[in-house]
Amino acid sequence: MKNIATTLFLLALALFTHAFAGNPVTVKSPDGQLELKFELKDGVPYYALDRNSKPVVLPSKMGFTLEWRDDLAHAFVLKDTKYNSFDEIWEPVWGEEAQIRNHYNEMLVTLEQPVGSVESMDHSTEKKPTVMQIRFRLYDDGLGFRYEFPMENALVYFWITEELTEFAMTGNHTAWWIPGDYDTQEYNFTQSRLSEIRNLWEAGHKDGGWPWTGFSHTGVQTALQMKTDDGLYLNIHEAATLNYPTMHLNLDDKTMVFQAHLSPDATGYKGRLQAPCTSPWRTVMVCETATDVLASRLILNLNDPCVLEDVSWIHPVKYMGVWWEMISGKSSWSYTNDFPSVKLGETDYAHATPNGTHGANNANVRRYIDFAAENGFDALLIEGWNIGWEDWYAKQKDFVFDFLTPYPDFDLPALNKYAHEKGIRLIMHHESSASTQNYERWMEQAYALMNQYGYDAVKGGYVGTIIPFGEGHYSQPINNHYHYAIVEAAKHHIMVNSHEAVRPTGLCRTWPNMIGNESAMGTEFRERINPGHTTILPFTRLQGGPMDYTPGIFETDMGKIVSWGKPMKTTICNQLGLYVTFYSPLQMAADFPEHYAQFMDAFQFIKDVAVDWDTSLYLMAEPGDYIVTARHPKLSTLNKAAEGVGTLRDGKKGVVSNATKFVYALPDDATAEDLKNAQSHDVWYVGGITDENAREVTVKLDFLKPSVKYEATIYADAKDASGIPGDAYNAQAYTITKKTVTNKSTLKLKMAPCGGFAVSLRSQAAMGK
Ligand code: NOJ
Ligand code: CA
Repeated sequence: MKNIATTLFLLALALFTHAFAGNPVTVKSPDGQLELKFELKDGVPYYALDRNSKPVVLPSKMGFTLEWRDDLAHAFVLKDTKYNSFDEIWEPVWGEEAQIRNHYNEMLVTLEQPVGSVESMDHSTEKKPTVMQIRFRLYDDGLGFRYEFPMENALVYFWITEELTEFAMTGNHTAWWIPGDYDTQEYNFTQSRLSEIRNLWEAGHKDGGWPWTGFSHTGVQTALQMKTDDGLYLNIHEAATLNYPTMHLNLDDKTMVFQAHLSPDATGYKGRLQAPCTSPWRTVMVCETATDVLASRLILNLNDPCVLEDVSWIHPVKYMGVWWEMISGKSSWSYTNDFPSVKLGETDYAHATPNGTHGANNANVRRYIDFAAENGFDALLIEGWNIGWEDWYAKQKDFVFDFLTPYPDFDLPALNKYAHEKGIRLIMHHESSASTQNYERWMEQAYALMNQYGYDAVKGGYVGTIIPFGEGHYSQPINNHYHYAIVEAAKHHIMVNSHEAVRPTGLCRTWPNMIGNESAMGTEFRERINPGHTTILPFTRLQGGPMDYTPGIFETDMGKIVSWGKPMKTTICNQLGLYVTFYSPLQMAADFPEHYAQFMDAFQFIKDVAVDWDTSLYLMAEPGDYIVTARHPKLSTLNKAAEGVGTLRDGKKGVVSNATKFVYALPDDATAEDLKNAQSHDVWYVGGITDENAREVTVKLDFLKPSVKYEATIYADAKDASGIPGDAYNAQAYTITKKTVTNKSTLKLKMAPCGGFAVSLRSQAAMGK
């Protein structure tokens, strides 16, 4: 990607490279605090990690078991060790900050199983040694390592039966975990000691989103957040998982050793590889504070730089959706109740009786477009627009959707035109119902249809049992499918937000059209979400990339919408806080227009808040308890989505997004003409969220520019607010106050149980262009 590459500020590159073989061999992090030791013991590879000479990871085995061949687990000799150092600053297309430092020391060990020491079964290559390299990268905030298989090798095609990588813990740490599962990550987290996982696993597993495929009562998923009794924060995850299955962790709870457990494919194999190739990175983040975990860019740094030449079409998105209606049960994705069975191409929708509950109908979509446009949003998602929803769920049906044919009451060309004329883009929805092969059959035409009508973003979905049958959601072939969808979308200049796809591992650095993923329990789980869930996700799921959590629920009592609904454990201010504590370049305001209309003063924060940042400060945090974050908007991308609509054939020119109006202090009816002459103000947003415990936090505003006066607008839970269901439930009670502050000011902010706060800060004076 030339334009970004030219802006890279290379501090230093490849400072030194030299080679020697020894045993053990070590490498330290740039600040010298972390030390990695690699060693062969009787031909078996081990690594260990120390921090300030205290063990963090005890000697842990490495390697693989293979089919049809001796394992990559013994008989190794150390042939070579190479060292390297790297230090650069790179600029993400979107992100939590404008510049990211990638600074590490590297050690590459080359291991061989000499000719004759192992049985190879492959007579064409058996005269060569088997070569496996391990590349270690030591950062100040953690370790990454991966296996590499060069071409010159006895090993060319090989089938993995298990990866043997261990993570030997030094004690019975506290962990925030979800059950290991081949098909879903939609779980509440459990906080427990490692030794308690076995007893708590079953209860945690029952709580998940269907389909569930657990494999062990001590199996957990990554990113796994832990805390030692010494107060050190450890996080195990993986980076750049491509053409490889997802790694789970299986704990031996007698020794406190995690072993890698790869997601098998339909035949039980755990990866079919072809040299030259590499495994994903295995990561161990080590931080002194919880806020350092949130600030870590370890996973992104271990991914390759952006491969897209042109990224001008990628932009942050703030959107609404014809979506919560279906999730809450108020309306349906389906158009008719006539058909117990749908066969696409045969079923006659033209003569079907409308069920009267179909959400994606022309009039309702227009209503949402009007509201989204009036309030300066960029886009509107519409689900249930295409035929097939009458029998899509849990049917294990191959040809479930064609992603092309709208329902009779959804006028796709006219609605796009209507939206564009109002400055709104429509977001496409492709629910594959986990029939990946069917989706691949239609993908090209489906993306072409999007191009034809000016959709530039798609929400994908993988609900249900994967087809081809026998595959899980995170096996090598299905991980390849998700990647294929991203790569093909990029060719069409389409941004992708996939739900139920594999949890991300930082690939959005390489493919920044991957602007979102769900891949965890999101707002759609409503009352089932535990208090504190959103204080854990930034430590775990969000380490790999942004989440489409879909915040912004103002009518928090679902019982007001449908008779079976229950209150959600949240408050309006908790929902507002999420826009700052959760990072995503794609943020939704998920509730109905009529609910926002009741609370337009609180809705103002959702309008004003930006979604892409040049600076993020993690002010205080503890997983499971609370998070307070401050963010500064990136001016260069602020109005990018709105400008894109102007370039459409039927698009409205001169649109200004709502956050842009806030930063430039423009009135609601401002146009791009007004923006040309406007001066920006210095703006910050601060958000806080808490678990079931009420809290008071003191936020020092010392990050503001000195000697500048700011207007703070504080959205806080009212004294009697509570997000805990029961007699005291009072989720919609808030206060909005305005104050003049400076960098010497502090704010005392009270959060109700399951509550939060949001603050916008805008300099009184303009600062410049
Ligand atoms: C599950 C997704 O997470 C949700 O957002 C979507 O509405 C449904 N699947 C239907 O596609
Ligand atoms: Ca989901």
